[in-house]
Formats: sequence, structure tokens, C-alpha cells
Amino acid sequence: MARTNKKVSMRLRRLITLSVVAALLIGAVSVFGLPRMISDQVAQLPESIQNIADQVTPEPVTIFNPPQYSIDDASSLWVVVNKQRQISPLRYKPENLVFPAFPNPQVQNPFNLRLRSEAALATESLAAAMAEAGEGTLILNSGFRTYKTQKALYDRTKAARGLAVAEKLSARPGHSEHQLGLAADFSVQGQGCVIMVCFGKTAGGKWLAENAYKHGFIIRYQKGYRSITGFQYEPWHFRYVGIELATEMRTRGIKTLEEFWELESAPDYATPAG
Ligand code: DAL
Ligand code: ZN
Repeated sequence: MARTNKKVSMRLRRLITLSVVAALLIGAVSVFGLPRMISDQVAQLPESIQNIADQVTPEPVTIFNPPQYSIDDASSLWVVVNKQRQISPLRYKPENLVFPAFPNPQVQNPFNLRLRSEAALATESLAAAMAEAGEGTLILNSGFRTYKTQKALYDRTKAARGLAVAEKLSARPGHSEHQLGLAADFSVQGQGCVIMVCFGKTAGGKWLAENAYKHGFIIRYQKGYRSITGFQYEPWHFRYVGIELATEMRTRGIKTLEEFWELESAPDYATPAG
């Protein structure tokens, strides 16, 4: 009886030893062997497939959060103003207007202009990025305008160049993004074409068109979109909408706020010029 018990316990011990060895072997293969086998197989993939694998490495993305701002409220960073959508109230004036802190204000802000603080900060970072990239010195030629200033500008253009031209170039008072404090007319020192269509062809104009979105600006009046925006191509007029929206428009290749928000096109005003 004792002999039989001893045999059983020896078998049991052998079984346990075998199980432990087997477990160790499986562990070693999975820790050292399997990843090696997989990486060997990846190394054998054709180069083109490996390139695709490299390209799908996720890029950091900005989260777009549409309900964040209104497109109707004059004080909203996303407000859409055009020939069909007047600013409400018509004589609206933003509260937080500041002078952008340029390194060289005499050169970069020769007319002592203000912008809404969010747009002013973005202008500062845009100017700094431009200088750092060796692309020149950013100049602010137009910023916040009161209802009254916009009226004077529109009337002056109408008197000098006629109604049709004034309606193409200058917004009626109560319809200009400059009255929001969120529009900036930029030029670049020494590159000419100041507030001219040819600015789009200058090195600075091209750099701004490619990079302004990173700082929250869009070119508001793009080439070939007059039937939607109501205004001719203005490569100098940048509208601050914030980095999220500017990046989203860029990513989706959408050129106008009207299209982005699926709004009516605004080629003309609802009322004839007075
Ligand atoms: N030039 C643009 C349209 C404005 O007057 O606001
Ligand atoms: Zn402008």
C-alpha cells in the first residue's frame, strides 16, 4: 500500500515538473520569440507597404467643436457677416479692442490700429512666425473700424469710383468684418502690392495664404468666390475665426464661411444702395 502511494506521489511530482517546464517554455516563446517573428515578417514586407505603414502613424488632431460659438451674435468669434447678414446691432462696437504688441510698432502698425484682443494676439503670433521663417515683417494696414469710419470709407470709394466699384470693394457700414474688430488687412514690408490683388503673388502674400490658418486667420474673400461672398478677391483681408475653425476649413478645403455653415450665398445686398 505504502509502495503504491509512493509511486503515485512520484508520478504527481513528475507531472508538476513537466507542467512547470512547459509553462516556462511557452512564456519564453511568447516574450522573446513571437515579437521577433512578427518584426522579421514586417522587415520582409515590400518597401511600398512599409511606407504606407509609416504614413498611417496618427498625427495630432485638433478637435472641432461646432456648438462652441454663435454665427449670429456680433461678439462671437464665428459670426458671419456679409451683404445679406448685417451686424446686429448695426452700430456694434466690440469691447476688448487692443493694439497688437508688435516688436516694431512704428513700422508694423503705422496707423495705430486696434483689433479685438483675440485677433491682436493671433496677429502677434503670425508676425513672429513670419519673421522666424525669414519671410519678412508683417504690417497691419487696417484693423478695427467704427460704423462711422466704414461709412466714410464706403462713401469715399463711391464718390471716387462709382457705386458699382464701391459695392465690389468696400462693405456698407454695418456689413464690414472690420467693424467686428476681427479683420486685418496685412502687407509685408518692402514687398509692395499693399491692398492690391497682386499681393497674392508676392512671397509674403503666398506665405500668409499658406500659414495664416495656423494662427486662426482665413482669407475671407477668395479668388473666384464673389458670387458667394459678394466681394472680389482680397488676398490682404484676413478674418480671425480661431485656430479650430480655420484649421477645419483648411482640412476640408472649404474656402468661404457661407459654404462652411451652409448659408445662402450673398452676392448682393437685400436693399439697393441709398
Ligand atoms: N473690403 C471689405 C469687404 C470691407 O470693406 O469690409
Ligand atoms: Zn479688409
